[in-house]
Amino acid sequence: MEKEKFLWGGATAAYQCEGAWDEDGKGANIWDEFCHSAANTTGITADVSSDFYHHYAEDIRMMAEGGQNTFRFSISWSRIVPKEDRVVNEAGLAFYDRVLDECDKYGIVPNVTLVHYDLPDYIGHKGGWLYDGVSDEFAYYASVVFRHFGNRIPLYVTINEPSHNASCCYMVGNYPPNEQNMQHFAHCAYNMVMCTAKAVREFRKLNLAGAQIGIVHSSGNTEALHDTPEDRLAVKYGDMFSNDWVLDPAIRGYFEEELIEKVRESGIDLSFIKEGDFDIIRANTVDFLGQNIYCRNLVKPYKSGETKATVNNLGTNDGSADSPREGKTVKGWFESDWDPNVPLNRWGREVYPPCAYATLMKRKERYGNIPIYVTENGHGCYEMPDENGYVEDDERIRFLQEFIGYILKAKEEGVNVKGYYVWAPMDLYSWINGYKKRYGLVRVDFEDPERKRTPKKSYYWYKKFIEEHRDI
Ligand code: BG6
Repeated sequence: MEKEKFLWGGATAAYQCEGAWDEDGKGANIWDEFCHSAANTTGITADVSSDFYHHYAEDIRMMAEGGQNTFRFSISWSRIVPKEDRVVNEAGLAFYDRVLDECDKYGIVPNVTLVHYDLPDYIGHKGGWLYDGVSDEFAYYASVVFRHFGNRIPLYVTINEPSHNASCCYMVGNYPPNEQNMQHFAHCAYNMVMCTAKAVREFRKLNLAGAQIGIVHSSGNTEALHDTPEDRLAVKYGDMFSNDWVLDPAIRGYFEEELIEKVRESGIDLSFIKEGDFDIIRANTVDFLGQNIYCRNLVKPYKSGETKATVNNLGTNDGSADSPREGKTVKGWFESDWDPNVPLNRWGREVYPPCAYATLMKRKERYGNIPIYVTENGHGCYEMPDENGYVEDDERIRFLQEFIGYILKAKEEGVNVKGYYVWAPMDLYSWINGYKKRYGLVRVDFEDPERKRTPKKSYYWYKKFIEEHRDI
């Protein structure tokens, strides 16, 4: 039997790169609405962004020429089901057919996420992730996608990063609907779990030979700098808060009783849990885990203060002790800790490559041999091109090299890692960080109406690295 190829590629998301926000029958989504509203104080939108909608052929060709054999992207829900009447927009399906044709042309394996933050606006108007019907609407949309694309897509993902998404929407408040409300955080989180279970149920009905379904999770491993009983408890609570509520139901089919009790003790009203839900969760688990790896979850015991969180959205860290740092306090659970020996990036996020190894080892410890794709890993930078648009992004190369080294070490030690996706194959919109924070291997000139693409030094580095690691 031919050895299965390791997948090496890059990841994007619909709202962040497609542009064409109202073209060919697409409906608006909550990000279109937010970016067009006064709440968006920067005035920056992704109406055009990298214009992947018109440049997909060029982008996919560049991926192939860069030696990449897989591409993770997301489908825009509001391109497929633009309105509440559930009528399917054939032009939306046709766009992704064209994208898949292009992938086929180069033997690039598509890995496709159903929702990457961008709920349709009509769902947003009914309460978004808090809307009682969100999981049924999501299951409907998912079934339209599964039926149309079938096993042309071998890797489907239900939701991108439930924990990060819920936290930004309802804890930090930097993503729409911009709230700081832990009751809503928990409700949103629960509805996301139900969305995954119900989409998996639709997927299983079709018996799509050769196609699998997974979830993409973002939080890394939880660890503490000290090893006292209190620190160990903080690590446990850190995992319960950031990892277990996403991964336990999706992979094992249940929440641990201890988690439910802890949430109840924290004053959350759990009446959003409906009879029969737990049976649906139990019967509909995923085939694989997509693990995004950016940083670890470093914690210490909770001491004082109200629940609050800061996330990587400021770009103001100047290295001084009082610069903003990413982290959270969860009242009665844990607080984030800071390691003075670990550098932070400009957005206050730790740059700590060993977390890639530790995260993967932890996943194996808890979830056994489940196939894992590292569905995102990347480094945001402010960048200056030369007069030809070329960027020497040595800092990014170092970052990727070190992280990949730790990922391959985990693989060698038995973690079932089957693929790696750099965030991102080309520059794109970085949510509230706009366009100055860049992650791409290929520069996109956002000032240029043609959105000229220029490969950076990291693009060539990645190509060579893949060549040398093609057969791992
Ligand atoms: C991941 C998301 O959490 O991080 C991406 O899936 C996002 O959508 C990436 O762009 C980097 O985060 P940011 O906020 O720096 O763009």
